[in-house]
Amino acid sequence: QELQMNLEQIEKGGYDHFMLKEIYEQPSVIKDTYRGRLLANQGLIKMAGIEDNLERFLNAERILIVACGTSWHAGLVAEYIIEEFARIPVEVEYASEFRYRNPIINKNDVLIAISQSGETADTLAAIKLAKERGAFVFGVCNVVGSSISRETHAGAYTHAGPEIGVASTKAFTTQITVITMIALRLAKAKGTLSNSDYHRYLQELELIPEKVQDALLTNDAAEAIGKVFQKSSNCLYLGRGYNFPVALEGALKLKEISYIHAEGYPAAEMKHGPIALIDEHMPVIVIAPKQGHYDKVVSNIQEIKSRSGKIIAVVTKGDVQVRELADYVIEVPDTSDALSPLITTIPLQLLSYHIAVLRGCNVDQPRNLAKSVTVE
Ligand code: G6P
Repeated sequence: QELQMNLEQIEKGGYDHFMLKEIYEQPSVIKDTYRGRLLANQGLIKMAGIEDNLERFLNAERILIVACGTSWHAGLVAEYIIEEFARIPVEVEYASEFRYRNPIINKNDVLIAISQSGETADTLAAIKLAKERGAFVFGVCNVVGSSISRETHAGAYTHAGPEIGVASTKAFTTQITVITMIALRLAKAKGTLSNSDYHRYLQELELIPEKVQDALLTNDAAEAIGKVFQKSSNCLYLGRGYNFPVALEGALKLKEISYIHAEGYPAAEMKHGPIALIDEHMPVIVIAPKQGHYDKVVSNIQEIKSRSGKIIAVVTKGDVQVRELADYVIEVPDTSDALSPLITTIPLQLLSYHIAVLRGCNVDQPRNLAKSVTVE
C-alpha cells in the first residue's frame, strides 16, 4: 500500500495531481510535438503522414473532422485555422452524431479524426463509416498503436506523453500544434498564405513553448480568482473567433472537475440567450486578447458590466482598456490570433484546477467520467 502511494507520488513528479503536472508539461510536450517537424529556419514543415499523402489533401474538396469532448474543441480550432491558412472547406462534427445520420461522404473528402486515447468508440465508428464510403482517413492521436491509429490510412501523433488526468490538458494543446503544422504545410503547397505570413507563423509557432511557460505564471492569479468564485453555482465563458473554442473548452474543464455548471458561448451570441442569466452572482470569463476581435469583445464586456456580471478577463499583457472594465484580469503573452488558443487556454486550465481543489473535488478522477470512452 505504502509502496503504491510512493510510486504514485513519484509519477506525479512533485505535483499534487496529475492534471497539474500535465498542465505544466505543456511547454516541453509542445516542443516534443513539433520537434523534427517544424523547421522554422529552413521554412519547412515535415510530417511524413502529410508528405506521403499530400495529393489527397490538395485534391480534397472538403475536410471533415470528427472527434468527441476536448478533442472536438481542438477540431473547432482546426476548422478556423485550416480554412484561414489553406482555404479548404472544413466541417467539424461530434463523432457520435456523424456516425448515425447517414452523412454525405465523397471519395475526395479527407476525414481527420482527432483523439487523445485513440480508443473512443464513436470516433472509431465514424472512421469506419468514412472508410466504407471511400474517404481518405487521417488520425491525430496521442496513444501510439491505439485502435484509431491503426484504423486510419495515415496520421500524425501528438507526442504529448501519457495523459493520466481525466480532464484533458496537454493533449488539447498538442493536438492544436499538430493541426497548425498541417494547416501551414497545406498553405505552403497551395500558396494560400503570403510568403511573409507563412514564415512569420513558423517562427511564432516555434516560440509557443516559451510563451506557454510565461502563461503558466498566471497560476497564482488563477488560484486567487478561484478562491473568490469557488462557491459559484454557474459560470459563463465567452470568446470570439479562435477563442470561441477556447471558451467551450474552459467551460468543459470547469464542469468536468469542479461540478460547477458552466457554459461556453461565442461572445456575440450572448445577446441571444445567456445575457438573461447575468446578474451580480454570475461570473463571466471573457477571453479578450489584443489580436482578433478585440473591440467587439470589449463591447460584450460592457454589456456584461452594465448588468452587474462579475468579469474575469484573459487579456494580453499591457492591456489597459479591458482592465478598466473587468473585475479581475489575467495577463498572457501576445501572439498571433490564429495561435492564441495555445496561450489563452492555459489560465483557464489553471482556474478550473484550483477551483476543483478548493472545492475538495477529485481532480484526476472526477465522478462519472472516464479517461477513454470505449463504449457508446
Ligand atoms: C472522454 C475524456 C475527455 C476526452 C474525450 C475524447 O470524455 O474524459 O477528456 O476529451 O473522452 O477522448 P479522446 O481520447 O477521443 O480524445
